Amino acid sequence: MRFANAIVRTPGPSMIHGLTSANLGKPDYEKALAQHAAYIRALESCGLQVTVLPHDNDYPDSTFVEDTALVTPACAIIMRPGAPSRRGETTAIENPLTKFSMHIGRVVSPGTVDAGDIMMAGDHYYIGLSQRTNAEGASQVIRVLEKYGLTGSTVLLKDALHLKSGVAYLEEGWLVTGGEFVGRREFSEFKTILVESDEQYAANCLWVNDRVLVAAGFPKTKQAIETCGFETVQLEMSEFQKLDGGLSCLSLRF
Ligand code: GLY
Repeated sequence: MRFANAIVRTPGPSMIHGLTSANLGKPDYEKALAQHAAYIRALESCGLQVTVLPHDNDYPDSTFVEDTALVTPACAIIMRPGAPSRRGETTAIENPLTKFSMHIGRVVSPGTVDAGDIMMAGDHYYIGLSQRTNAEGASQVIRVLEKYGLTGSTVLLKDALHLKSGVAYLEEGWLVTGGEFVGRREFSEFKTILVESDEQYAANCLWVNDRVLVAAGFPKTKQAIETCGFETVQLEMSEFQKLDGGLSCLSLRF
């Protein structure tokens, strides 16, 4: 698997009003812009062509573009986000995906899915059932995947916001797991890299073309990933962490 493209969306000033359960205070907008620019540079350094969508102040969470669509090598599926305040974010995503000649499917009511709940591992897609993603939405996604020869299965979440808040697939059979996902039967086939409880946020790391982007400030997780043979790229993520957002949330990769 190699990624050639990414879509990101610049955060807007309204991001300070984004959804959050983090209790870390309001993001500093200027700092967030700088962190976002460094994120784009990191994707480019991994060989990706990055499409940058302009911000939309009507949608405080719209920089977390990953939640709006699932992009597979065979098709793209436009999501129906679980939080009503985020539903309109999908409109801006469909156009650029169409430009890449994607076959487009979509999740429709009463289904809801945030694609932060979907983890790709080869041809299989794990879908977290969470406060944002319901069983109907997951079934709709699996039906579209199966049309293209792909498969999907569900994972019930207890506390995590999204599946990828606590688990990341790094290719070559390696899975980073933390919190409620440690030891889960659904992931027993993988070789696992454990994230300790005091570094839980770092479980949302991101494999991009043989490198792994990791959030700065979590040295044990970074070291554990490097010990398994991966080159890491550290990025400051403090302002997005304040909104429960992680490295994967900031882009669509394909
Ligand atoms: N702030 C990201 C989310 O809650 O969807």
